[in-house]
Amino acid sequence: ALSSLAALLLGYALGSIPFGLLLTRMAGTQDIRSIGSGNIGATNVLRTGRKGLAAATLLGDALKGTVAVLLALAWLGPEAALAAALGAFLGHLFPVWLGFKGGKGVATFLGVTLALAWPAALVFAAVWLAVAFLTRYSSLAALVASVATALSAYFLASTPVGVLLSLLAALLWFMHRANISRLIDGTEGRIGKKG
Ligand code: G3P
Repeated sequence: ALSSLAALLLGYALGSIPFGLLLTRMAGTQDIRSIGSGNIGATNVLRTGRKGLAAATLLGDALKGTVAVLLALAWLGPEAALAAALGAFLGHLFPVWLGFKGGKGVATFLGVTLALAWPAALVFAAVWLAVAFLTRYSSLAALVASVATALSAYFLASTPVGVLLSLLAALLWFMHRANISRLIDGTEGRIGKKG
C-alpha cells in the first residue's frame, strides 16, 4: 500500500544517517573508513580509542531505527511499522549519501527490534553480551544474537515480525561475510584490541 511505501522512505531517510561517520568527523578523528575494518559502525569507532564516541554511535544508529518504526506506527499503522523497519535497515546498509556503502546493521537491527518487539531486543542484548564477553568478537556476538532474536520474535511478538527480523538477520549475515571469513581463518579482530 501507499502508506507502506511512505514508511519505507521515511525509514530509509532516518536509517541512512551515518552517525559513526558524522560523530567521528565532528570529533576530528582520522576518517573512520580508513582504520580497523573500515566500517562506519560503533565497533570500529571504538578502535579510535574514543569510547564515548562509540557509545554515541551505537545509540544514534539504534535509535534512528526505533524512531522510524515508532513514527510509522503512530502515523501510518502496524503494517507501515514493518516497512519503516526495513527502510531504516536498508538505509543504514546502503545510504545514498555514501555511495550506498554503509554499515553492517547491528545497532539498527537492535533499534528496530526495540520498537517492534521489546522483549526480543532483550534477547538480542543478552545474547550479544554473553557471546562478546566469552569470545571478545563483536561480529560473532552480532551474528549469533541476530539469529536468536529473529527466532525469538516468532514467539515473543508475531509471525510478521519474526519474518521481517529473519530477513534483516539474513542481510546482517551477508554484510558480515568478510568478518565470517576472518572468524573462520582466526584473523578476526577482538574487542579491546586494535583491528
Ligand atoms: O557491527 C559490526 C560488527 O559486528 C563488526 O564490526 O568493524 O569489526 O567489522 P567490524
